[in-house]
Amino acid sequence: MRVAILTTFFGFFFALASSAPVAPAPKLHVLHARQNATGATNTTAPCASVSSAYFGQVNPSPTVPAQMAMDCIKSVPLNVTAAKILIKDIRPFIQWQSTLAYLKNPPVEYVTKIQAAVDIMAGLDYIDAQLTAGAYSGEYDFGSSLYQLIHSAHDGHFSYIPDSVGNIFTFGRTVPLVSVSEDGQMLPAIFAYVDVLGTQFHNISYTPSAVVKIDGQDANTFLQNWSQWGSLQDRDALYNNVFYELAQISLGASGSATGTFSGGGRGRYVYPGAHTTLTFANGTSRTFQNYARVLVNMRGIQTGEDLQRNYFYYDAAASAESISNVNGETPVRVSATSPSTPPGYPEAVVPGPLNLINGYYIDSPDYNDIAVLSVPSFVSNSYAESDFQLTTTRFIPKALADGKTKLIIDLSANGGGTILQGYDMFKQLFPSILPYGATRFRAHEAVDLIGQSYSALGSKYPRSLNDTNSTIVGVQSTYFDYETDADVNYHPFTSWPDKYGPVTFNGDNFTQIARWNLTDTFITLASGGIEITGYGTRSNFTTQPFKAENIVIVYDGYCASTCTIFSELMRQQAGVKTIAMGGRSNKNPIQAVGGVKGTNNYQWGYIQGLAQQAVEIAAPDQQERYNKSVLANYYTDAPFSRASGSPGCNVRDGLRQDDDSGIPLQFRYEAADCRLFYTPEMTVDATAIWKAAADAQWNGGKCVESGSYGKRDEVTTRLSRRTGAVDWAQKKRLEESLALETNPNISGDGLMLP
Ligand SMILES: *[C@@H]1O[C@H](CO)[C@@H](O)[C@H](O)[C@H]1NC(C)=O
Ligand SMILES: *[C@@H]1O[C@H](CO)[C@@H](O)[C@H](O)[C@H]1NC(C)=O
Ligand SMILES: *[C@@H]1O[C@H](CO)[C@@H](O)[C@H](O)[C@H]1NC(C)=O
Ligand SMILES: *[C@@H]1O[C@H](CO)[C@@H](O)[C@H](O)[C@H]1NC(C)=O
Ligand SMILES: *[C@@H]1O[C@H](CO)[C@@H](O)[C@H](O)[C@H]1NC(C)=O
Ligand SMILES: *[C@@H]1O[C@H](CO)[C@@H](O)[C@H](O)[C@H]1NC(C)=O
Ligand SMILES: *[C@@H]1O[C@H](CO)[C@@H](O)[C@H](O)[C@H]1NC(C)=O
Ligand SMILES: *[C@@H]1O[C@H](CO)[C@@H](O)[C@H](O)[C@H]1NC(C)=O
Ligand SMILES: *[C@@H]1O[C@H](CO)[C@@H](O)[C@H](O)[C@H]1NC(C)=O
Ligand SMILES: *[C@@H]1O[C@H](CO)[C@@H](O)[C@H](O)[C@H]1NC(C)=O
Ligand SMILES: *[C@@H]1O[C@H](CO)[C@@H](O)[C@H](O)[C@H]1NC(C)=O
Ligand SMILES: *[C@@H]1O[C@H](CO)[C@@H](O)[C@H](O)[C@H]1NC(C)=O
Repeated sequence: MRVAILTTFFGFFFALASSAPVAPAPKLHVLHARQNATGATNTTAPCASVSSAYFGQVNPSPTVPAQMAMDCIKSVPLNVTAAKILIKDIRPFIQWQSTLAYLKNPPVEYVTKIQAAVDIMAGLDYIDAQLTAGAYSGEYDFGSSLYQLIHSAHDGHFSYIPDSVGNIFTFGRTVPLVSVSEDGQMLPAIFAYVDVLGTQFHNISYTPSAVVKIDGQDANTFLQNWSQWGSLQDRDALYNNVFYELAQISLGASGSATGTFSGGGRGRYVYPGAHTTLTFANGTSRTFQNYARVLVNMRGIQTGEDLQRNYFYYDAAASAESISNVNGETPVRVSATSPSTPPGYPEAVVPGPLNLINGYYIDSPDYNDIAVLSVPSFVSNSYAESDFQLTTTRFIPKALADGKTKLIIDLSANGGGTILQGYDMFKQLFPSILPYGATRFRAHEAVDLIGQSYSALGSKYPRSLNDTNSTIVGVQSTYFDYETDADVNYHPFTSWPDKYGPVTFNGDNFTQIARWNLTDTFITLASGGIEITGYGTRSNFTTQPFKAENIVIVYDGYCASTCTIFSELMRQQAGVKTIAMGGRSNKNPIQAVGGVKGTNNYQWGYIQGLAQQAVEIAAPDQQERYNKSVLANYYTDAPFSRASGSPGCNVRDGLRQDDDSGIPLQFRYEAADCRLFYTPEMTVDATAIWKAAADAQWNGGKCVESGSYGKRDEVTTRLSRRTGAVDWAQKKRLEESLALETNPNISGDGLMLP
């Protein structure tokens, strides 16, 4: 066995896939030279090493060896007083997490097929007791245990990333992987993505061999374990998200980059060790140095205490998020570096904004009748909402006019977005169906009090967009004015108590079912400005463009939030079939929808704003009553000043029509109609996915099935070359996409939008 220490795989260095020229991914060996040159080898002051390594680089995305960063962050001493304050102060916000009771006591099927139970509140008690007992060695030890507790909910809307975990360093590995089946029938195996690129583009002289061990452990086991650091709940979806994937790449820095193994998405919050050793089926082993992205200026930082003094804001009042956004959503971080045509995709027939949506055809006579709507996001932002909607509006009639009778909707990498864009797309496809879309909050005192205060003010005034008092419009357009939303029967609520309930399920209280009132006066405030198809100026959309059986939805499991809302409408109400790609290396059925099925997240800053405003807008003789209630707990800024990014909760459960069990969709298991393995070609050419989906749905192709599928139970061990012409420009763009991994702004994680 040969063992080589390399810092990057096969010496590939790529420019960022952006229009602006950016320095290539760092060569870590350069750091050592600099490190020696400046003599910063004081092992008792690990942050000094980081500091000197950091200043040895001109790179805008500086990286240092992972171990060096870990030694540094671990040397930050723990402020126990501040830690106890933090644990106390986050509890009122966590009350808003709608699934607390179900996480603690989930349905049996959730536990056997999806995730283990977790008692979040008891976990906070435990951390608090550990603090009292002096059990944590430093800020990182404390912070990572808090991070892991919240993460263990496996809810993409629920996240708290402490300063020590997300503000100073994030981590990565230099070797993106893929899991592919050589012919779509053999069981998939793991390969270095550059090996697949090499064989697909006839560009390597050796025969690539599968990764069979990682750090000495069986590679499948290792990656299944590692996959749990992703934000999804479904295990096959999590497994897919470990790997390089074209749809994620197409989102630029707002996707999970080159996969959680290489530090994309929530994978970046986990220390991968100093090195990673890959052992291949052919007996070769290679060891790579892991790295950390440095997110703060390290100038003058020598010790953990220096880092603490400069970057741990124990007393600083961080400004809470503004309340102006009616849905409490995080402002969308759309990558400014999205390339015009994403690598691995053809030219769009009808391009949408920022690659959030694109309409394609498949350039092959066998697939002439098929249109593809690729929708890796429902995330829009104020300037993309309208274009997002119009992309579907333009693409459908064009596709029909061009003789397309079938539609593939590719929802791969779709972490959600604007809720009503999901409703709108459904209505563009099925104009005659009224979306069901039941939601509910966890009913607790803060929700009740805010609802009382908002409803008291809101119901005093007519609901009019023309109202010049923005406070009144702001109040009236939230959930907390009872006049917003329709009830379970699509009738108006009559009072706040009518809307609040509560009703009891699984030992916890919940509000009555609320459904979006698609003719609400304020609907355009919630929708980001669009009118919902079927209403208002779009009420002339009455023709269903495709039969349900002529539509199929393709998933990579990474479907969360609004993607799950849309999927529920499409599958349950319209009867559209689903195809799930990839999954663990077995032939079992897998789920199509693997991400959070909660239907709304609130950032904690929004919750804080609601609570404070409920006091402010109350009648003068009521203010003291409100301000002495639980709402007094929402003035603290510690949860914000101690966090990386915006902490969030899932505040609304999604519920299925005609199901009175009260079980949120998040806790239901639902296998896809069809499963397909990824092939090597599908990791370099998205149309290969669409062709396979079309074959399975309409051309008699087979889906993966235990027993009958494929004759063999063979596992892929090697890759053969693709035949046909090589598109060198495509290859270059794919190579360049690998540089995404060191981008310090990669997200694709707990900031999923509903
Ligand atoms: C610099 O440091 C690296 C490791 O930290 C070591 O391998 C190398 O030999 C050193 N070089 C010199 C010139 O001291
Ligand atoms: C190394 O760092 C420690 C902690 O800052 C310091 O006390 C010590 O003097 C340093 N040693 C050297 C040789 O610079
Ligand atoms: C520890 O936290 C407390 C409470 O936030 C703060 O007052 C104190 O200054 C902090 N101590 C240090 C050493 O930063
Ligand atoms: C590999 O690809 C590069 C272009 O990216 C080309 O210049 C080179 O000749 C190729 N090598 C082989 C062995 O095909
Ligand atoms: C074994 O496979 C690995 C991974 O594909 C490759 O890098 C290496 O060159 C191969 N070794 C031999 C001896 O073929
Ligand atoms: C992965 O396995 C290690 C033990 O090998 C364990 O400590 C760790 O918690 C596991 N991680 C996850 C996410 O399950
Ligand atoms: C708003 O004002 C415009 C013109 O002043 C009027 O045409 C429209 O009907 C008003 N809309 C509502 C909802 O009151
Ligand atoms: C808007 O309405 C609120 C609540 O009634 C009131 O306190 C505020 O003064 C009004 N603002 C304006 C500009 O009229
Ligand atoms: C649920 O609500 C009822 C009455 O509104 C209350 O008595 C009970 O304590 C609540 N249960 C929980 C778990 O909050
Ligand atoms: C929806 O809102 C409109 C306008 O506010 C109202 O007239 C209608 O009754 C509401 N519909 C339902 C089902 O609540
Ligand atoms: C609906 O009407 C608008 C003009 O008001 C027109 O531009 C659009 O094409 C129509 N759409 C359909 C589906 O009829
Ligand atoms: C409510 O209490 C907070 C402090 O707990 C105070 O800052 C605020 O001014 C009070 N608001 C009102 C309207 O009394």
